Amino acid sequence: MKWSHKHLLDIEPLTREDIFLIFELAQRFEEVNLRPIKKVPTLKGKTVILYFSEPSTRTKTSFDIAAKRLSADVFSLATKGSSEEKGESLKDTVLTLEAMNPDLIVIRHRQSGAARFVSTKIKCNVINAGDGWHAHPTQALLDGYTLSKEWNNEFQGKTLLILGDIAHSRVARSDIELFNKLGTRVRLCAPKTLLPRHVESWPVEVYSDLERACDGVDAIQCLRLQLERQEAGLLPSLREYSREFGLCKRHLILANRGVKIMHPGPMNRGIEISSEIADSRESLILDQVNAGVAVRMALLHLFLTVN
Ligand code: CP
Repeated sequence: MKWSHKHLLDIEPLTREDIFLIFELAQRFEEVNLRPIKKVPTLKGKTVILYFSEPSTRTKTSFDIAAKRLSADVFSLATKGSSEEKGESLKDTVLTLEAMNPDLIVIRHRQSGAARFVSTKIKCNVINAGDGWHAHPTQALLDGYTLSKEWNNEFQGKTLLILGDIAHSRVARSDIELFNKLGTRVRLCAPKTLLPRHVESWPVEVYSDLERACDGVDAIQCLRLQLERQEAGLLPSLREYSREFGLCKRHLILANRGVKIMHPGPMNRGIEISSEIADSRESLILDQVNAGVAVRMALLHLFLTVN
């Protein structure tokens, strides 16, 4: 097994071989997750710190479960209750954590570039669990793994639509990088105010009409609309956004047969996605959560035993 990476800060340095290795290992760890005793000794004696300075349900819990199922010792720190609340800097916080000799730190931070900054200050491995608008590489890997099971690892010739607030989405940026590497065509659909500047130079097709965007797609990744975007003047109203860009049953008729619906969560039901779609048999939303544990087990295994 070949794994030459010290950190996972974004998708960019991963090769196709790295990505398929992660998928292959995740498949093996999924078997562990189905056992009555869901624990293997792989990371016995290793210490993992989860440092989340932004809220998280899926990413934090699944890293915690993944590390514990591999027998690592796991410690969690959130901004609330940490010395960051008293004004400690990010640099001092991570130097303090490193002084306790962890093997790996998983970090989520509101500032783009925070994970890279941390990786330059400490010696242990760093995994980015989402930094600002920049990247959410483990989300992209679990999205890819979820579709790999539906598409039998055939990513070429498929089209993925990413719908919603692309401008402020680290998930969109990481998904675009990952699916481009795998040969999947990527489309974006959003109001012009929620598209990033210079999107025309990105390797994607851009739509502003949801019906046209859904025509012939194989999967749709629906993004959370951050409700404060309306206060920032980027949307006329949530009702209008929902009418123009909310995914509902009529859009699926335009997509390819067998279209799959995804959402990284947390969802605003009735705004960017109807409940009917979120709970439909086309929905992979809970499969994504399930895949998150296996993919994070695969990553912890690679960083802490192969590296
Ligand atoms: N997808 C995702 O990052 O969800 P959480 O914010 O709950 O971790």
